[in-house]
Amino acid sequence: MIFNNRVAVVTGSAKGLGAAMVQRFAQEGVKVVVVDFDFEKVNVVVEQIISNGGEAIGFKCDVTNREDVKALGEKVIEHYGRLDILVNNAGITRDSSFKKMTDEQWDAVLNVDLKSIFIVTQELYKYMEANNYGRIINISSVIGLSGNFGQSNYSAAKAGVIGLTKTLAIELGKKGITVNAVAPGFINTDMTKVMPENVKDKMVASIPVGRAGEPNDIASAVAFLASEETGFISGVTLSVNGAMYLA
Ligand SMILES: NC(=O)c1ccc[n+]([C@@H]2O[C@H](COP(=O)([O-])OP(=O)(O)OC[C@H]3O[C@@H](n4cnc5c(N)ncnc54)[C@H](O)[C@@H]3O)[C@@H](O)[C@H]2O)c1
Repeated sequence: MIFNNRVAVVTGSAKGLGAAMVQRFAQEGVKVVVVDFDFEKVNVVVEQIISNGGEAIGFKCDVTNREDVKALGEKVIEHYGRLDILVNNAGITRDSSFKKMTDEQWDAVLNVDLKSIFIVTQELYKYMEANNYGRIINISSVIGLSGNFGQSNYSAAKAGVIGLTKTLAIELGKKGITVNAVAPGFINTDMTKVMPENVKDKMVASIPVGRAGEPNDIASAVAFLASEETGFISGVTLSVNGAMYLA
């Protein structure tokens, strides 16, 4: 994969899929910005990358807070002088049956999983536009395609991510920026750790490739879409789910 002196911001990268993405980018020679509101974990990831010979800085940021995000953009430019790749990865779940879903659960998930992409992309794409080059990857989910019992908030947000990705691909294309979504299936991270063992076993048994996904499976797909060779791929949703759900 080709990356010439590129700089990447990955939101929610203190652990899970985001941490795998920044580590993968760093291995490819990309300078990374580890962004999360859990600053202790941000520092651990930054230190790991640096000790493996990569380049990384960390930033504490709540992606739902526009002021935090503006400050993030300024810091990236101050430190690296450019921004080429943005992965909107931060996400949460607040599961409940539709009948019992509260306004609080609905708003929390819609804010972090969907509105933050509006805020972060609006504040940061201008730095890509300045160089007429950019790669934006938004993390959706298989649940945004299939729906799921107990996840009306999450499936609405993740389906929204796909619609937003398509519109941004149309609006930002002439600025040299591609915008794509990745829809992970069932991946082993803290997000899925909380599921009951019997539900997890059933889910894994239903995956045709015969295993759960690992964070590196997603990091590879994201790295591909972020590389320089993919300039004619825009507006797509890449499912990375072991054929668990075929959209
Ligand atoms: N794990 C899976 O099976 C799976 C499947 C499909 C999609 N996804 C999506 O992938 C993304 C990453 O998931 P994960 O499994 O790594 O989750 P995770 O819970 O392990 O990590 C998410 C990270 O996002 C951070 N975060 C949450 N809210 C934030 C905010 N407001 N500002 C800044 N950082 C914030 C958390 O601190 C955490 O470090 C999410 O968007 C999730 O919906 C995960």
